Amino acid sequence: MPHRSPLCGANPPAAATPRVGAVLAPAPDVQPRQRVAVVGLGYVGLPTALSLTAAGSEVVGIDVDENRLAAIKDERVELFHGDASRLATALNDQLLKLTTEPATMKEADAVVICVPTPVDAHTTPDMTALSRACETVVEHAQRGQTIVLTSTTYAGCTRDLLIAPLRQRGFQIGTDVFVAFSPERIDPGVAGHAPESTPRVLGGFTGRCSERAARLLAHTAAVVHIVSSPEAAEMTKLLENTFRAVNIALANEFADAATELGIDVIEVISAASTKPYGYMPFYPGSGVGGHCIPCDPHYLLWQMRARRRNSPVVDAAMAAIAARPRAVFGRAVRVLADSGKPLTGARILIAGVSYKPGISDIRESPALAIIDLLSSQGAHVFFSDPYVDVVRSAVAGTLHHVANPDQMAWDLVVVHTAHPDHDLGWLAQQPTVLDASYKLADLPNRHLL
Ligand SMILES: NC(=O)c1ccc[n+]([C@@H]2O[C@H](COP(=O)([O-])OP(=O)(O)OC[C@H]3O[C@@H](n4cnc5c(N)ncnc54)[C@H](O)[C@@H]3O)[C@@H](O)[C@H]2O)c1
Repeated sequence: MPHRSPLCGANPPAAATPRVGAVLAPAPDVQPRQRVAVVGLGYVGLPTALSLTAAGSEVVGIDVDENRLAAIKDERVELFHGDASRLATALNDQLLKLTTEPATMKEADAVVICVPTPVDAHTTPDMTALSRACETVVEHAQRGQTIVLTSTTYAGCTRDLLIAPLRQRGFQIGTDVFVAFSPERIDPGVAGHAPESTPRVLGGFTGRCSERAARLLAHTAAVVHIVSSPEAAEMTKLLENTFRAVNIALANEFADAATELGIDVIEVISAASTKPYGYMPFYPGSGVGGHCIPCDPHYLLWQMRARRRNSPVVDAAMAAIAARPRAVFGRAVRVLADSGKPLTGARILIAGVSYKPGISDIRESPALAIIDLLSSQGAHVFFSDPYVDVVRSAVAGTLHHVANPDQMAWDLVVVHTAHPDHDLGWLAQQPTVLDASYKLADLPNRHLL
């Protein structure tokens, strides 16, 4: 049976190269049936692997962390958008194999790289995991393979870490191996933002690279939008997340101004949102978390610094966002003082510690910095979060989820994350609440930042 491209319903020849700006949608009846190695099975890699197995590919998931692989095998991992049942099916049907052995990628038709790209304590990009993963992929690359980098990174990274070293190994890119960058847009915990209903951007080194990579990823997205180069795709991701960072910083600044003027900022944002063009809402809060907004804009800043170029708007936004947890801490101290209580010895509950509602992820959560700051000044800090069992704080030690916070006496409750379907009605009985989520408009005696 002839192979049919999954890119377009029109069923073009397999070698057709998509033009820049082309939007390619998968034909639902066509299965890719490829063997794919997914390198890094975290928040992004595992759902990517499951999109591919759901479309009929055989996937080998390669991860350096044996504990993560064991958790996936035992189905003890947080998944969204129906991926839990996909995981059960993929394991049961042996479409997903799990290993720490990188040489298994030699057997694959395609390799997708999804390893972390964090920043270090000085906000400098930490390329350790990505460099190692790319070295391994280059070492094991085989003629005919399609290699797609999906980790968020600086513009030029695919060229530096994959294209140049593959050429050094003697491969001709676009003929022997096919290389592209295609950033992930996964939005954990937000119903309606499933990857398969979200477009994705892809930039290959050549047209044939784009065509091969789009064929592979068509089943992981609503449509694939082709750009002219890996660099354009890399920078697209940086723009998307920097746009969020700048607008969150602006929302925080407006919230502070509105509080100063005695105006409800959420009412103002709702009113501005009625404008059908030129505005989209962003909301104030205690800062940003996860591995995207607090990190990704620093990849751009780092790259511009090396070229002695300024990015003042991005710089200011990231500095303001980073300072937000300290602003929550400062406000908590003042609110306590106003109610006649010193911070030292105060019993403080942080309600919700994950970095955003509806998920258990506490990576880079502003709550961690707030807990550390309060604890370092002698407060007794506790937390309550239906999604999180344990928080390990550098200062406060190991904290466990308080299951019945409504039955205890608190000097202050700081609402950090208001989870959906989680009743916070008991806060009405609390004497002092600092609402850093800005979500509890009806709460009597609520304090804002
Ligand atoms: N989490 C999100 O919501 C999100 C959204 C869009 C994009 N991204 C980007 O996707 C990338 C991956 O993020 P994530 O959240 O999935 O990270 P993660 O930390 O959840 O998972 C990464 C996985 O890669 C593994 N790993 C590290 N080095 C490896 C190596 N050399 N070989 C094999 N496995 C290795 C780790 O053990 C881990 O299991 C990052 O660049 C991130 O910025 C993340």
